[in-house]
Amino acid sequence: MLAQRFDGNVEMCYLAGLAHDMCRELSFEEQQNIVQQNSNCLTFISQRDSYKAIFADDHFTRKMLHGPAAACVLFRTYNIFQFDLLEAVALHSVADETMSQCAKIVFISDKLEPLREQKPDAQKNLNTLLLNDLFTYTIGCVNSWFSESGKPILPYTSKIYSRILNK
Ligand SMILES: [Fe+2]
Repeated sequence: MLAQRFDGNVEMCYLAGLAHDMCRELSFEEQQNIVQQNSNCLTFISQRDSYKAIFADDHFTRKMLHGPAAACVLFRTYNIFQFDLLEAVALHSVADETMSQCAKIVFISDKLEPLREQKPDAQKNLNTLLLNDLFTYTIGCVNSWFSESGKPILPYTSKIYSRILNK
């Protein structure tokens, strides 16, 4: 729906949406093996702060490595070489304002999906806000969820939220 609304590549977003959690049920060791053996698949994002943030702390690596692992499987097993799609899958847990349109759409869809607890204005915003405003709104929701639940948020995510707000 978002890909259509933003005139994006609907097929690419759909595939990224289907595939983004495909490695989540694998053990952490299996995810690590996939990423270590296929690190060349992700060279194009390996220097990005968002990607590095996944590996900066063991707690977050364990939660977020399924994204990079899924991107490696798409590349290696399914011969998917579109950078935007691989980026969307690899970084779906990490907000990064330089991400492609497809990656932002997947991030937003994952965080604001109907099965998650939504803020009362979420549906209206999904239908009306421009992509970057919706992206900022989504990061704001993520920040609220973590601060309300008392669970630790990825420091990189809270850092870019304050950076965006202070622009
Ligand atoms: Fe995920």
